[in-house]
Amino acid sequence: MASPLPPLSVGVRARVPAKINLALKVGPRRRDGYHPLATVYHAVSLYDEVSAGWAEPDEFEVSVSGEGADLVPLDEDNLVVRAARLLARTHGPYDSLGASLSIRKAIPVAAGLAGGSADGAAALVACAALWDLDLSAEALRTLAAELGSDVPFALLGGTAVGSGRGEEVVPALARGTYHWVLGFGHHGLSTPAVYGRFDQLTPHPAAPEVPDELMTALRTGDPRQLGAALVNDLQPAALDLQPRLRQVIEAGLDFGAVGALISGSGPTAAFLAASEPAAIDLAVALSADGLCREVRRASGPVTGARLVG
Ligand code: C5P
Repeated sequence: MASPLPPLSVGVRARVPAKINLALKVGPRRRDGYHPLATVYHAVSLYDEVSAGWAEPDEFEVSVSGEGADLVPLDEDNLVVRAARLLARTHGPYDSLGASLSIRKAIPVAAGLAGGSADGAAALVACAALWDLDLSAEALRTLAAELGSDVPFALLGGTAVGSGRGEEVVPALARGTYHWVLGFGHHGLSTPAVYGRFDQLTPHPAAPEVPDELMTALRTGDPRQLGAALVNDLQPAALDLQPRLRQVIEAGLDFGAVGALISGSGPTAAFLAASEPAAIDLAVALSADGLCREVRRASGPVTGARLVG
């Protein structure tokens, strides 16, 4: 088959947010190695960008710049390459498609913020546009779930309840904007290692359910109520693997956070502030304290992976 003509534009760019888990309830390890989850995802305004440009058929190359770029694989393990190949294989004239991909990272790697998953979602959106593929939202979501548990949420964004291994997402009824302060760790944490520690620390976990208090808090839009309802079953495992994180959480609460938790499998600490000015004060105090590698403010919810520019 002849190669489709390259489009006139040099490429397309998609922007995608980080996520935090407002609730992460984890059940017993399944036979396939995954854990059943009941989680509440929340997309926050810390963004990676993925650009896709035309390349020779069956040529998929990737470059990475920005936060933690040296930690991102550039081979076929890269989630952006996997996403592009999967999309080409399932929805395109496979032999005639290729892409030159570049990732600009602001979301740290191995941080519990689903940065790799975000990049995979952005690559699906960017390549679908580059190749002019007409995909339904449902078709994209199916590919996203194949790429990873957190990828469907990265497409959706907002605030959403996740079930299954996290890949089944339904938008949640949530009011208001929340102001967060994120404390990045000095070292990453491996998600499988944190789940493994969870298995050791929690031999008989209950079937996971999202707490009612959290869903009620989201409907009221009151940060104090939400702060009191934040919960993460993986937090004891993350604190066990990186005991210094306990100090980070305590420092944020001392500096006025209305809620604090480790995001996902960590090590990022997420602090909820009562207001935007309170978040600015909290970020300044935490930065000065020096416990975190870097401190960033972000608000949520924000939309999922979208084309920009
Ligand atoms: O789905 P994803 O490839 O992002 O998951 C990475 C790893 O995290 C899995 O291989 C598994 O070890 C762990 N995981 C899990 N249960 C989940 C999601 C992820 O045990 N629900």
